[in-house]
Amino acid sequence: MPLFKLENISKIYANNTVLKNIDLTIESGISYAIIGPSGAGKSTLLRLMNLLELPSFGNLYYNDQSVANANESVLLPLRRQMTMVIQNSQMLAGTVEDNMKIGLKLRGLPNSIIQEKIKQALAFVGLKNLVNRKANTLSGGEIQRIALARAITLEPKVLFLDEPTANLDPQNVAMVESLISDIQKQFSTTVIIVTHNLFQAKRIAEEVIFMHQGKIIEKASAKTIFNDPAENLTKQFVHGTMIY
Ligand SMILES: Nc1ncnc2c1ncn2[C@@H]1O[C@H](COP(=O)(O)OP(=O)(O)OP(=O)(O)O)[C@@H](O)[C@H]1O
Ligand SMILES: [Mg+2]
Repeated sequence: MPLFKLENISKIYANNTVLKNIDLTIESGISYAIIGPSGAGKSTLLRLMNLLELPSFGNLYYNDQSVANANESVLLPLRRQMTMVIQNSQMLAGTVEDNMKIGLKLRGLPNSIIQEKIKQALAFVGLKNLVNRKANTLSGGEIQRIALARAITLEPKVLFLDEPTANLDPQNVAMVESLISDIQKQFSTTVIIVTHNLFQAKRIAEEVIFMHQGKIIEKASAKTIFNDPAENLTKQFVHGTMIY
């Protein structure tokens, strides 16, 4: 059973069709990268799978459950099986611990378990020492690692990442990438990352989805996409010769 199944999905904002007839199957436990030019619809596709937006047309299944027309009471518990980490993660006032508690409290977990999860997740990302640090004093790299730690505490089945390293220096990029791979391996999390960094897609993803102008042009193993893509547009994009 696939984790997500998208059938002929389109998304229209006002009169702008930003996703066109998307068919896509996502398998559990695999790492996917979504690549493509700016405006291709990558973030929109991510928000659809994260159940933050609903399709205008088509069917969307999560674990075989049709969710294309589901209401909030159905969507909320499913959405809680997923976490999104974005480019510039937001931290609220207060300490790192305060920030990490919020989602866990919403889930109604007892305080002792919350403390333990936070401790373990901070250890996982190597930032145990920052637990009592004011969140507004963190560096950009630390914020992204704390955002990953926060994601880990929620034990998501799916980890969505939208340009998670776009504003980081190479050292932090490497650190965040290896954490993402560790999360996938250790917790069998399904990882779906949108990235402009083709090297990052190569390093992290088993499967790569190439999007262009609202369509999925090609989905194949990372090896195929980067070494021997079937489609001309994919070839142009990965070779840096696409004009847009
Ligand atoms: N809420 C919205 N209302 C109207 N148009 C939107 C909305 N969200 C996205 N769009 C439009 O949909 C198109 C695809 O946007 P999207 O953010 O999915 O692209 P992207 O591939 O993630 O691009 P980038 O690489 O620049 O982040 C764009 O033309 C964008 O302006
Ligand atoms: Mg985007």
